[in-house]
Amino acid sequence: MSQRLENKIALVTGAGAGIGEATSRRFAEEGATVIVTDMDGDAVERVVADITAAGGRADGRVQDVTDEQGWDSLVDAIVAEYGALHVLVNNAGIALPANVEDATLADWRKVQAVNVEGVFMGCRAAIRAMKSCGGSIINISSIEGIVGEPNTAAYNTSKGGVRIFTKSTALHCAKQGYPIRVNSVHPGFILTAMVEQGLASMPEDVSQEMLERLDREIPLQRMGEPLDIANGCLFLASEEAKYMTGSELIIDGGYTCH
Ligand code: NAI
Repeated sequence: MSQRLENKIALVTGAGAGIGEATSRRFAEEGATVIVTDMDGDAVERVVADITAAGGRADGRVQDVTDEQGWDSLVDAIVAEYGALHVLVNNAGIALPANVEDATLADWRKVQAVNVEGVFMGCRAAIRAMKSCGGSIINISSIEGIVGEPNTAAYNTSKGGVRIFTKSTALHCAKQGYPIRVNSVHPGFILTAMVEQGLASMPEDVSQEMLERLDREIPLQRMGEPLDIANGCLFLASEEAKYMTGSELIIDGGYTCH
């Protein structure tokens, strides 16, 4: 078994399900000690227990990424206990589908709070810890940060924000001479609870139309799996990506080609 993240301490947010869970498992397989965080404490316990049972190293924390103080105390606690933080995956995210006419301001703000402000606070806290030891920050954006969808006004906005915030942060770190790389990952349609719930929230004819459209429009003709994104994150976290910063890794079965 290769150990591409040997001796690395990695924090993954929203790691109780879907892409975050798969990324945590993949990182642990490659030798990282993974700090698994999520709002859902039961999910955190389950993921940590599974990783440990498979012979990996993981520790769990309940975390709401919108909690500013929580970010600083979490990163301080990781550095105090493990000596460093080398990798952060800002993965936690929510989607509340609505078009520009139907969206409520409360839902709009909720989406920005988790998807944009959470990523900002995570980067800020991690940079403080990584300045001396170096690190890799991976912000999970989306293809929805690159192309628009009529029914995801707030989500589109948040993921576009993550995309360009990543570049600003990468430039700041480089300019300061910090040994920190910052990149974004843009998953296409990945079969997780988020997509299942999104489809379930639509009228049946709309979700059916969307599924048929996806089959037609994804060049590889299928949705992706969480592991497809986890492998991209692994690459960016590892030394193999040592010359990459501010870049966008699109993993979408070719969806954004046209
Ligand atoms: P998911 O809904 O399956 O899992 C998200 C996890 O984040 C859940 O365990 C949830 O409890 C946690 N979470 C939600 N709000 C939180 C908060 N405030 N603080 C801490 N944890 C919180 O989602 P999925 O599909 O795994 O998505 C992960 C990331 O990938 C998200 O940022 C999402 O926007 C992005 N993404 C997903 C795509 C997909 O097709 N599934 C496509 C493109 C991007």
